[in-house]
Amino acid sequence: MGEIRQIVLTRRPSGVPVPEDFALESAPLPRPGPGEILVKMRVCSCDPAIRGFLDDRPSYLPPVALGAPINGMSLGEVVESNDPAWPVGTLLRTMATWSEHYVIRGDALGLEKVEAAPGVPLQHYMGALGPVGLTAWVGLFEIGKAKAGETVLVSAAAGATGSTVVQLAKAAGCRVIGLAGGAAKAQVVRDLGADVAIDYKAVPDLAATIREAAPDGIDVYFDNVGGETLDAVLPLMRLHGRIAVCGMVSQYNDADHPHGNRNLWQLVVNRLTMRGFITYDHPEVLAEAQAMLDGLFASGKLKPLENVRTGIERLPEAFIDLMSGRTTGKTLVLI
Ligand SMILES: NC(=O)c1ccc[n+]([C@@H]2O[C@H](COP(=O)([O-])OP(=O)(O)OC[C@H]3O[C@@H](n4cnc5c(N)ncnc54)[C@H](OP(=O)(O)O)[C@@H]3O)[C@@H](O)[C@H]2O)c1
Repeated sequence: MGEIRQIVLTRRPSGVPVPEDFALESAPLPRPGPGEILVKMRVCSCDPAIRGFLDDRPSYLPPVALGAPINGMSLGEVVESNDPAWPVGTLLRTMATWSEHYVIRGDALGLEKVEAAPGVPLQHYMGALGPVGLTAWVGLFEIGKAKAGETVLVSAAAGATGSTVVQLAKAAGCRVIGLAGGAAKAQVVRDLGADVAIDYKAVPDLAATIREAAPDGIDVYFDNVGGETLDAVLPLMRLHGRIAVCGMVSQYNDADHPHGNRNLWQLVVNRLTMRGFITYDHPEVLAEAQAMLDGLFASGKLKPLENVRTGIERLPEAFIDLMSGRTTGKTLVLI
């Protein structure tokens, strides 16, 4: 056990990342010092936000240095411990690197224990029963203030966050419209319970198609994509509607040329609230959110949607598929 494998950044991607932007390398097994723990990665999460860390520009984390391992969220198991609060065998989630093993301080910011229920696949705790579910909940209820009887629109509805939003909004008694790219993805969104699923790539006028599905307007727009879709939706919002800005994935592959939104005046016309959020900025609601996610999962009303591969060497391929819009559900790699 003297060496580990890790995925490093070999060059900064231009547009959609390609395999040559990454390399699988070996490195010495890191040793935990005082107050530190050695963690074996079990489940690695591919997130669109990582695309932002690969550019040489400020994001909400500093850029990944060339030659350094990629940063990302992971679920791991403590295999050596110099901190009694984190005994060997403890499962945890943290921002780590794409490495088979990593060392972290026991008091590091954002380190969370994971209590996995028997029989539940571990990867769900990186998906709908973990950060994905919490993001959907915070955006929908804390930021979007969605209530029973309201109309909720969600973009990237067949993706990790979107597929969870669809199910949470239905469980809360909302009418749900999902946008997804392609007929197969739209069918997935219907199967999750959405009242209407629109294949946005197949309709000539997205705004007209959404208006047909929601003639009285949208109360909550859960925005995962930004760009032209946001422009189409802004004039369709109801008076006092809420836009929860979770992300703008349509912009990440070409951050030098951001889309110029044209319809922001609608914020005034319809007295809208449009608010961006980062899930873990809302610790006060996370216990309530987790309880609802666990309850819905136990009763069969929340079905985690995932695409899962195995092997650290498959991380670049999984991330490239995610950033090409080819994935459905949460993109995870078991290590
Ligand atoms: N605020 C937070 O705390 C937080 C936390 C997690 C994620 N997020 C954000 O939530 C959004 C969804 O993330 P996710 O992890 O759930 O990903 P995801 O939805 O599983 O995957 C991304 C999806 O976005 C759509 N998409 C639209 N334009 C795209 C483009 N130009 N390139 C690639 N994909 C495009 C694709 O779906 P279609 O084929 O249907 O277009 C794609 O499948 C992202 O904006 C992400 O940054 C925010």
